Amino acid sequence: MAIGRGGDLLFHISEDLRRFKALTMGHPIIMGRKTFESFPNGALPGRSNIVITRQVDYVANGAETVGSLQQAIDAVEQCDEAFVIGGGEIYTQALPHASKLYLTIIDADVADADTFFPQIDPAQWEKIEESEVKQDPRSGATYRFICLSRK
Ligand SMILES: NC(=O)c1ccc[n+]([C@@H]2O[C@H](COP(=O)([O-])OP(=O)(O)OC[C@H]3O[C@@H](n4cnc5c(N)ncnc54)[C@H](OP(=O)(O)O)[C@@H]3O)[C@@H](O)[C@H]2O)c1
Repeated sequence: MAIGRGGDLLFHISEDLRRFKALTMGHPIIMGRKTFESFPNGALPGRSNIVITRQVDYVANGAETVGSLQQAIDAVEQCDEAFVIGGGEIYTQALPHASKLYLTIIDADVADADTFFPQIDPAQWEKIEESEVKQDPRSGATYRFICLSRK
């Protein structure tokens, strides 16, 4: 599943961005350094932003930096729910730790994508929510929201 190109998202679907905000608001969000740098206005408000980087002197305004995924997980240990929000490198490392996947499935082929979500093993996940098919008024692409829970 393609998720990025040139440091940006493939689609900017308003309803998807609203859903992302509603799901994550008030919860910690964990991300790779490149995803943090893709935000046009820096750290996302109303959420504790945790940025994973190997750069010991990296400064992420409005965010906490940590040196590994495990340090990020340790930092949210006391929280009810925390969200890993990308990108591809961090999704790949975090997938084994996830208990739920909130996905937006967009029906499109993007030939020049350069970032991908890791393979999901269907035997390990069950679908617990699925929206109707919707259409993005800007791009015309059809999409749906699904939520998978670890079996
Ligand atoms: N569609 C979506 O759901 C979605 C969501 C988020 C992002 N995206 C897209 O994905 C792309 C960015 O993803 P990406 O895979 O290139 O980068 P990324 O996962 O956002 O960040 C990669 C960076 O994280 C740090 N990192 C990774 N593993 C680490 C580890 N084990 N320990 C310490 N630091 C570690 C490194 O930072 P340093 O280089 O600083 O050491 C690495 O360069 C963009 O195009 C973005 O728009 C899509």
